[in-house]
Amino acid sequence: MATKRARAAEAPAESTAEAPEPKSDIEPTFNPKGEMMWESSPSRYIAKISLHTRKEILRPIDPEELLVHAHRDKNPVEVTAQFMASRAIQLTGNEDAVKDGLRRMNALAGSLAESLGKATGLKAVEKQTKKLMGVAERSYIFQFREPSHLSEKEVKGRVAKLQAEARAALKARGRAPKLQVLLTGATGFLGKEILVQAADDKNIAQMVCALRPEKIRDPKTREVVKVLSPQQRGAQLLERLGISGARAKKFRFVDGDIEKPNLGIPDAELAKLEKTLTHIVHCAASVSFDDTYENSYRANVLGARNALELAYRVQNAKGSSFINHIAIETSYIHGRKKRSMALENALAFPRAFYNNYYELTKAMASIDTDRFMIEKGLRVAQLLPSIVIGHSRTGNNYGDTKVVNAPINAFGRSKDQIDKLATDMVGRSKARMIAAVAMAFPGDATAELNLVPVDRVVAGIIAALVVPEAIGERIHLATDNRIRTEDIVRITKEEIGIDVRLTDPTLFRNFTLPLMKIALEKMKEPKLANALDKLATIFGGYGEWGQPIHDVGNDVRILGLPIRRPNTLFAFRMLCRHNKYVQDFGKVRDADEVARRELVWSQVLENIEFETGRQVASISPEEFQRLLEAHLDLRAFKAKKGG
Ligand SMILES: NC(=O)c1ccc[n+]([C@@H]2O[C@H](COP(=O)([O-])OP(=O)(O)OC[C@H]3O[C@@H](n4cnc5c(N)ncnc54)[C@H](OP(=O)(O)O)[C@@H]3O)[C@@H](O)[C@H]2O)c1
Repeated sequence: MATKRARAAEAPAESTAEAPEPKSDIEPTFNPKGEMMWESSPSRYIAKISLHTRKEILRPIDPEELLVHAHRDKNPVEVTAQFMASRAIQLTGNEDAVKDGLRRMNALAGSLAESLGKATGLKAVEKQTKKLMGVAERSYIFQFREPSHLSEKEVKGRVAKLQAEARAALKARGRAPKLQVLLTGATGFLGKEILVQAADDKNIAQMVCALRPEKIRDPKTREVVKVLSPQQRGAQLLERLGISGARAKKFRFVDGDIEKPNLGIPDAELAKLEKTLTHIVHCAASVSFDDTYENSYRANVLGARNALELAYRVQNAKGSSFINHIAIETSYIHGRKKRSMALENALAFPRAFYNNYYELTKAMASIDTDRFMIEKGLRVAQLLPSIVIGHSRTGNNYGDTKVVNAPINAFGRSKDQIDKLATDMVGRSKARMIAAVAMAFPGDATAELNLVPVDRVVAGIIAALVVPEAIGERIHLATDNRIRTEDIVRITKEEIGIDVRLTDPTLFRNFTLPLMKIALEKMKEPKLANALDKLATIFGGYGEWGQPIHDVGNDVRILGLPIRRPNTLFAFRMLCRHNKYVQDFGKVRDADEVARRELVWSQVLENIEFETGRQVASISPEEFQRLLEAHLDLRAFKAKKGG
């Protein structure tokens, strides 16, 4: 739970002014015309504080002003300064010193402009000079609103009471607690791994999955040709995951829609669940980095609030068996912090804002979760995965194509296209030109990414079911061995043969990307131009310097997970191999075929490990390729007999 101190906003670098505590009420505020503000406004969670008056600016916050892109690339001087800073960090390796230098230069330029203003007696001169010199000046800061007026001691007392209640409820169930869990998001990437691990978990007796129906569309016309009920989806899901017989009996699939009250679960079902449920694991969300604020708000804030309301209702139902709620969040609720440590239990409005509405709305949901816990007494644990990638040993990801998979698959497909073109003289020169422009990606070589394999994340979620001490905590399900962008580029080249060139992100946004688009359009490759534009805009932010460092420890200390976290370099290597052979860079889309291939892949890797006595990820790309061809018929994607 965030303390009052930790919640105070990180004041912008150019200001030393102390901001006051924002009003801690969660009442709706009013605009200057006296109209109540839009219900879903970020203003319910965030206060904009004037640095001049030290008071809250009572105007609805436009969600866009909370994102990184609204605050940068304002003029050529600033663009140049950012570019130079990035170069300096690469040369010196000292991010803090370079940031400090930037701050000093900004202050110097600011006082120079002020002197000019005084000397001429014209405020306009000062203003114009500041603009010309790219002086960054903000007259306000953002702060998260406090979830309660209580003191730290009172909050601690409440959390201890909630933990004690959960401990007693768990203890009363005896050594075999026969847990009854309601899960949202079972059809998603993490959800599928939850089902796989839950199938073999002795503590879990039943898992009820709330699913919405699925519209199956004709791939060409996009017309709806069939609608699968939640029960049909569930049966299909279990089959694809290889969960059958007695293991399958553990699972039940019911109607659900997280955007509706009570998660859209029918009343008759709710009546049963109210008495039997021990946990709700809320995992469903919209994990889309380019969605609108409204869509992200509905899925991530409203969805989370509906889950919290339902958990509260079940906790307080007559004859309730409820132990606690588990909210799946993201460690990126800390936003862009420019290398300052993102502590597990402290949530402050990020100095460098949010990358997208996904991060912002997940942070807003986390604040609602705190409010439910402190004000209403809901027993809830918050689990925060970092960037989730496929299984640590195999790279298997159940057909996921999001997040890190998206750029890797896009580069793989571009390479295929380039290789195809390069069969004749004309094609070869076009291929060379396309490669020259299309293989650039915004990123600083030294930026560090926090990638965590899905099996580790889900081990944390399952463990939290029987750890009442997780209540009142934010727990990062992240890694302590972060991967550098330069390692990502090196491994991608070794495994996929793609020579990605890292380009300075500031330069890329302002010059390379617009030029690249023009060049690709001229080469009659508008689809490639669009795809690369989208990719760079959506994912570019995660490869820049100034990434937050996510503190870890609670996963081991509180949840009891093994202290040795999966080797990220190995896991990323297996992601590349998996996406190349199993997914064909996202071209194998049929979910049944993906499931079949992942099973074969797993068996073949096991055979190779048995034969060599080594972990597949430790085997060099050339040797792995030879071994794979000996064990796997790559065309039919079937294990070779005796291989
Ligand atoms: N993937 C990551 O790298 C990552 C990292 C950190 C945190 N997380 C968090 O982990 C959780 C799961 O992420 P994921 O990667 O598994 O996401 P995902 O693969 O995109 O799956 C999202 C799930 O949410 C469900 N869902 C969305 N809107 C719904 C609605 N209105 N009603 C019912 N279900 C709905 C989807 O159901 P349908 O099948 O019906 O669409 C699907 O099951 C999220 O809370 C996410 O924020 C993920």
